Amino acid sequence: MDARDLRRLMKAVGTAQGLRSVRAAWRRRRTDAAGLPRSGAERARVPGTALGAEPGPGGGVVRFARSSLLVRVAAGGAVFCGWDGAGPEPSYALGGPVPEVDERAVLEPDKDGGWRVVSERVLVVVSRHGGVEVRTPGGVLLRRDLPPRWWEPVGPAAGEAVAPRWTQRSEVAADARFFGLGGRAAGPRLRDGSYRLWNTDPGPFGPERDPLYITMPVQLVVADAGTHLAFHDNSWDGRVTLWEGEEGAGSGHDRPGRCELRMDGGPLRSWVIVGTPARVLHGWASLTGGAAVPPAWALGHHHARWGFDSEREVRRVVAGYVERGLPLSALHLDIDHYRGHRVFTVDREAFPDLPGLAADLRERGVRLVSIVDPAVKAEPGLSMYDSGKEAGAFVRDGRGREVRGLVWPGEAVFPDFTDPRVRAWWGELYAERLAQGFAGFWHDMNEPVSFAAFGDPTLPLSARHALEGRGGDHREAHNVYGMAMARAGYEGLRALRPDERPFLFSRSGWAGMQRYGGTWSGDVVTGWPGLRASLALVLGLGLCGVPYSGPDIGGFTGSPSPELYLRWFQLGAYLPLFRTHAAFFAGRREPWEFGAETLEHAGAALRERARLLPYFVTLAHLARRTGAPYVRPVWWRSPEDRALRDCEDAFLLGDSLLVAPVLEQGADRRAVRLPRGRWYDTVTGRAHEGPGQVLLDAPLSRIPVLARAGAVLPVAGVDGQVELEVWAPAAGRTGGGVLIPDAGDGGEPVEVVRFTTRLRGGAVTVEQEGSAEVTYPVRVRGVKDDG
Ligand code: GLC
Repeated sequence: MDARDLRRLMKAVGTAQGLRSVRAAWRRRRTDAAGLPRSGAERARVPGTALGAEPGPGGGVVRFARSSLLVRVAAGGAVFCGWDGAGPEPSYALGGPVPEVDERAVLEPDKDGGWRVVSERVLVVVSRHGGVEVRTPGGVLLRRDLPPRWWEPVGPAAGEAVAPRWTQRSEVAADARFFGLGGRAAGPRLRDGSYRLWNTDPGPFGPERDPLYITMPVQLVVADAGTHLAFHDNSWDGRVTLWEGEEGAGSGHDRPGRCELRMDGGPLRSWVIVGTPARVLHGWASLTGGAAVPPAWALGHHHARWGFDSEREVRRVVAGYVERGLPLSALHLDIDHYRGHRVFTVDREAFPDLPGLAADLRERGVRLVSIVDPAVKAEPGLSMYDSGKEAGAFVRDGRGREVRGLVWPGEAVFPDFTDPRVRAWWGELYAERLAQGFAGFWHDMNEPVSFAAFGDPTLPLSARHALEGRGGDHREAHNVYGMAMARAGYEGLRALRPDERPFLFSRSGWAGMQRYGGTWSGDVVTGWPGLRASLALVLGLGLCGVPYSGPDIGGFTGSPSPELYLRWFQLGAYLPLFRTHAAFFAGRREPWEFGAETLEHAGAALRERARLLPYFVTLAHLARRTGAPYVRPVWWRSPEDRALRDCEDAFLLGDSLLVAPVLEQGADRRAVRLPRGRWYDTVTGRAHEGPGQVLLDAPLSRIPVLARAGAVLPVAGVDGQVELEVWAPAAGRTGGGVLIPDAGDGGEPVEVVRFTTRLRGGAVTVEQEGSAEVTYPVRVRGVKDDG
């Protein structure tokens, strides 16, 4: 945010709000001074020597002098390790019951007084001092956790319930690359550095800002020896420090990659999943739950703005799309349609007839989406506040008083979404939104944010939470707050409209949030670095199991140049959430506001997105079923290709397409690194052979998009019906693809249609599984006479 943006923001928020945020910060500090256990002297503890072990289903418990370790291999091959008696439950991350154990996995004595668990997909070796190695069945090392260390209070604080801090160091292969940890603007490859695990609203941010809204203790590690995901199931504040390794470092020895996890409290327990990237993400989705499939309309183009302050303005923008023949699926209303920024209310002067507006837009194929903020104005007489108070819905401090914070509507209280009763109360409130004609929901400010002039802009750490009945404070609840709110909304909507898939996306979240919806990149600053960060966030979140997201096209702040806007738009057209959005103090974002040339090219991107809709719908269903994100790093199918591992400026969209956005100002061509196999430039039809790097044209009119030889891509034909775009396989090879036709926006489709392609005698043939002939029109591309 530059000084001008800041001035505008201050003007909007008001000086009074500024003073109140100083008071709010003091209040938060006072609450914690009284409510948090004092930190005193501490004593370090390590597990000590292994004394013995008790085999159990899928593994067993190894007893150490000063701790114990439960090792258990699940049926799908995921390895659970829990120290000091920690088991897999309770957990906010798990999507269902704890996976069944692999009965064949047994704990047996290993050399030097250690123990090991042998199973089909993974070998776990526990050393005599409590180090844990995860190896491939063939014995190749993927990850070595060194013995953990706890810090426990001694002296006066010892009587209080203090969760010990702990640290765990790990080593991975020297060639390994780290990904994940939630949404990180500097990613997707996480370089040496320290990454905090604390969901944070950074304000308008660039690539250097960390942490952001979604942090997760999920690491995806890709190395020659294999890929693995390590998840520490602990929602407390913490820090991950990473050091990439180096081969042949020093005197010719490899220096392993290292990572250190420091947590402020909570259990020391982890899941490790090994295999190919596809297998690992599938395992992760099996553990944490399949991703909610958005309704098909949510895979079209969305237009949002903070500052649509009247029905007239909304109608004007929608008409702008309609008149120019530009496809538009959804229009989002931000906090300005609320009455004085109060959630679940409507400013009836500015929006006298929302249901009428919604119906009119709907006739033009446009859905209305509503922002939903968690904070409720603390105002007796306001029905939301009164009913929440009566339901005991709001977060309290250690002395039982409502915790007051400061958000858009002024002094506010916060529902405790970690309480199932509160989730039920909140979920019912969406009835009001549905009655107003809204079809989708945009959860914001749920890190949660409470403005503060200094200190952390969130709730006091000592604030009490139900935590599903276990009880605890904000140190444990903070990171799962947004996810629990998403759960409340999702379950409420499912109950209110059982025949429709809810559309919900949430700024904050945690491991498992995909069960309830997607997310977006938040307030990314306008500028070329922000464009790059947008892609990093979508890729990184996808590798953490959150497949549906996208940036504010054009950036949240300022006024992008026509070129920057267009390049952002072209990237966004290939990301799951395709949405223009900006702050009220930023410039316009409608495609026609940047001149005729930009309008023409943005129009082309919009039409291409509409054409790809059947492919996006298929990818949405596949993400749910297989855990594979729509947007995948280029190394997805070739993690052993080290050059690809370092490639951060392109991505695969499903199995069939490789998208190479332009991320640099002034570029009209760009280098594209190809995975192995043949790839066709989808515009020129020219074939390129991977692996290797090619230089491709990237005029302002388009970004390079390549199709994999043999791909069968479901697209919308001119009449809107599904047809197949088939890219010729290379000689002697077969190809294929799937189509999951959407059964409308309700339940799960029953059908998966599979296709195979071959090149026979110079001609491409297509077969449809279980059918004598292909029941969709086919258009073959990439044979000699094409393009
Ligand atoms: C937050 C959101 C942004 C929204 C604004 C006003 O900054 O991230 O998208 O426009 O709040 O609601």
